[in-house]
Formats: sequence, C-alpha cells, structure tokens
Amino acid sequence: MSFIVAIDGPAGTGKGTMADLISKKYNFTNIDTGATYRCVALEMLNRKIELDDDEKIEKMLKEIKIDMEQINGELKVTLDGKDVTKEIRSPEVSKIVSPVSSIKKVRIAMNDIQRKMAEGKDVIMEGRDICTVVFPNADVKIYLDGDLKERAMRRYRQNKEKGIDMSYEEVLENIQKRDKNDMEKEMGALKVAEGAVVIDTTGMSIEEEEEAICKIIDEKIRKGKK
Ligand code: DC
Repeated sequence: MSFIVAIDGPAGTGKGTMADLISKKYNFTNIDTGATYRCVALEMLNRKIELDDDEKIEKMLKEIKIDMEQINGELKVTLDGKDVTKEIRSPEVSKIVSPVSSIKKVRIAMNDIQRKMAEGKDVIMEGRDICTVVFPNADVKIYLDGDLKERAMRRYRQNKEKGIDMSYEEVLENIQKRDKNDMEKEMGALKVAEGAVVIDTTGMSIEEEEEAICKIIDEKIRKGKK
C-alpha cells in the first residue's frame, strides 16, 4: 500500500522545491510530472515534430523512455537513457511545453507513465492535474497558489542559479502564457480539486511553505490512511 501526497498549482509556487524537501524529510519518492511533459517537448524539438502531427506524435510516444531517479538528493531525468535534467529547462522547451501538454494523446500517455512511476511506493507527486486526474484519491491533496509577479521573480532567480539565461520580463511573459494555457486545457486543466487544501504562497518563505505542507501531511499520518 502506498501513501500519496499530490500537489498541483501554477509555475513558481514552489511545487518543485517543496516536493524535493518533503521527499527527503519523509523518505517519499519524488515524481516531477512537469518533467515528463518537458521530455516529450524536448523530443518533439529534436525530431522536429509539429504540434498537429498526430501520426508522428503517436509513434514517438510509443518509442520514448522517460525515467526519474534521485541521485545524492538531486532529481535526475533521463530520456532514452540520456541525462536531460538541464536540457528540459531550456527556454526553447519552456516555450512549447504547455501546448505540448495540451495534446490529448500526450496527456493519456503521461498519466500512464506517472501512475506506473508511483506504483507501490510512498510518493510526493507535483504537477497540474495530479489531484484532479492522476490521483484523485491521493491521501493528501494540496493546491499551491501565489501572486503572478512573485512567482515570476522566484522562477527568474531559480533559472539564474541553474545557469538558464532568461530575463525577468521573458520569464513573466512565459509564465503568464503558460498559466492561461494550463487553465484552459480541454483535458487535465489546472484547477483546484475537490478536497484539496489551497495554500496561498504569496509572501511566504520556503520554510513557512514547508511547515504549512508538513502540518497537513502529519495530520493525515496521525489520523491514518482512509
Ligand atoms: O511544472 P513545469 O513548469 O515543469 O511544467 C511544465 C508544463 O507541463 C506546464 O506548462 C504544464 C504542464 N504540466 C501539465 O500539464 N500537467 C502536469 N501534471 C504537470 C505539468
């Protein structure tokens, strides 16, 4: 039996950071579902596949192999055996990942991969539709929200630390576009799931955000599984 903590929310709310901290604290497997969509986006760029080329997309989805593992506390993402941890965060991938993630075939394939990655494990899984679609019966469901400009600033700083060269304005525009696209998706749209606890992260430090999430997890662990 596995224990599942599901976190949804727009970009820059700290989902990745929280998943990382919490996976270490509780010894949960960390599954970054956005990274699976980023791998598909990267492969589409590599193979020069257009967003509307159904046939090529279907073939590619059957062929690619996405893996995630934690090495020395860092999440390593591999695509067909190649380490793409950094490549999937490039501006080129960030630009097309939201439209790529709107393709139904892609969503169905990724949902499948994500559920398989979680099989039999205690996991923390973050993304956009984890509480609504992938694991609607998760033990803990959280929706992280936050002010757009603050989220863009966090992402801008994160990118800088990772050596990704994007101006604040570029990041803001990219996040704004992605928010809109993510919320208006036909399938797996970003929204607050039934039973999810909403946390507004505006003005919160990482420590405060972690504390708020841990409180919810601890309460659930104390009460026991459903
Ligand atoms: O969290 P991220 O920025 O790495 O996510 C990249 C994109 O993937 C984002 O624009 C929305 C999409 N995504 C999704 O549609 N469903 C998920 N569960 C996770 C991410």
